[in-house]
Amino acid sequence: MNSNYEQYREHMQQLADINYASALLQWDQEVYMPVNSAAARARQISTLSGLAHEKSTTEKLGSLLTTLEKDHSLNAKEQANIRETMRVYKDQKKYTTAFVVEMSKTVSQCFDAWQEARKKSDFSIYRPRLEKLLELKRKECELLGYNDHPYNALLNQFEPGATVATLDALFNEVSNKLVPFIDEITSAKKPDSGFLFRHYSREKQWPYGLELLKLMHFDFDAGRQDISAHPFTTSFSATDVRVTTRINENDIREMIWGCIHEGGHALYEQGLPDEEYGLPSGEAVSLGIHESQSRLWENNVGRSLPFWKFNYKHLQHLFPENLGNIDVESFYAGINAVEPSLIRTSADELTYHLHVLIRYEIEKLLISGKVQVKELPELWNSQYKKYLRIDVPNDAQGVLQDVHWSHGSFGYFPTYSLGSFYAAQFFRQAKIEIAGLDEMLASGEYKPLLDWLRTNIHVHGKTYRAHELCKKVTGEEINFRYFFEYATAKYGRIYQADTTKIVS
Ligand code: CO
Repeated sequence: MNSNYEQYREHMQQLADINYASALLQWDQEVYMPVNSAAARARQISTLSGLAHEKSTTEKLGSLLTTLEKDHSLNAKEQANIRETMRVYKDQKKYTTAFVVEMSKTVSQCFDAWQEARKKSDFSIYRPRLEKLLELKRKECELLGYNDHPYNALLNQFEPGATVATLDALFNEVSNKLVPFIDEITSAKKPDSGFLFRHYSREKQWPYGLELLKLMHFDFDAGRQDISAHPFTTSFSATDVRVTTRINENDIREMIWGCIHEGGHALYEQGLPDEEYGLPSGEAVSLGIHESQSRLWENNVGRSLPFWKFNYKHLQHLFPENLGNIDVESFYAGINAVEPSLIRTSADELTYHLHVLIRYEIEKLLISGKVQVKELPELWNSQYKKYLRIDVPNDAQGVLQDVHWSHGSFGYFPTYSLGSFYAAQFFRQAKIEIAGLDEMLASGEYKPLLDWLRTNIHVHGKTYRAHELCKKVTGEEINFRYFFEYATAKYGRIYQADTTKIVS
């Protein structure tokens, strides 16, 4: 046993203990915490974050990593752990305490201003705070260092290895291929989806959501589901993964696809190797790969015809007053209705990527200083007109809709689209490797697909970078073609569009 590596492992596990304890407090804050506890809780979380930052930047860790970097007795996985920890360690060391304190103060002011601005639909409340925050983000790019484009430094925090060059190539395809395809299908007759917005009682929705998670083989001995204002997944180890959902009695979609989406994130967390706890090899690869797991279950499986061929009868039985006279084909068409809309989080599977494209383009312009914060509302509205062909009535439903920028999360949005593109590419590969996958999905057998994801993706943790993992699993790096093929085949059929005109 290599004693340096053991010391490193022990150090990383203790660091994980602190981080997961903090995550548990944050989960509780969203789910159960009484309202008066906000100040005390903020303090507790901040103390733990301080301890974690200290522990992740100690000289002791630095010298262990330097020694282990030159240790050729380590196996490939151990070497990958050291490499990844060193990368994060070096980045952490670039921040001065003064910078961290200023950033955290600015973010908290910016978040408060955003909340008020959104409530009053008044961008001018947000503007000076966002200007200050962006100034700091640009400074952060310089601190971290980058090649080619400052935005690369920020991308690297969420999607290590992703660059403006690769994203530009992907989003050019979104703009050149997906936009005209959406124009084509939205000019055809929109399927009826009104039945989704009838009254669906909370009492019946909740157990149905749990059932969906059971179907997907979510392990309730290693996790649980609760209700929160915004659905999310968090975990404190592979043996304790929490998902949350929300119930809207006038829109059944929120609960059903919220559960399946978070369930997909959770299956990834439950499938990470528990014996690698605290090490990169025990963590998810990146936000993009994480999102690929949720989108694959939500869309490729959970919005597919085979899935509902098996599950629809039961849903219909639960809500006969709403679905009694809707057959499975009409249900399938309705849940896949495509319609350009204002709000990203409730967008359909296709127009969603136009919302992301707009944010990506704006973020690059803001970070490089080519656009000023004061120009944002106008730019936002003109982009919505250009790509989604809609008019934005006010800033609350426009540029103020997302929380991300107020948190300082620039470089985050693209990972949502990467998730869907990876999902399509992985799902295509799963279909090639699992004979009869569609028939399995149509008979309620989801274990073979889960096992495939476990073996090919989950067990590796962060041993591979996202682009390496994608190549290892599918034989090539991310390629928009697979998402586009999936989209044109599926929506071409639903909308009976003439897909022969579409060149992929
Ligand atoms: Co997600």
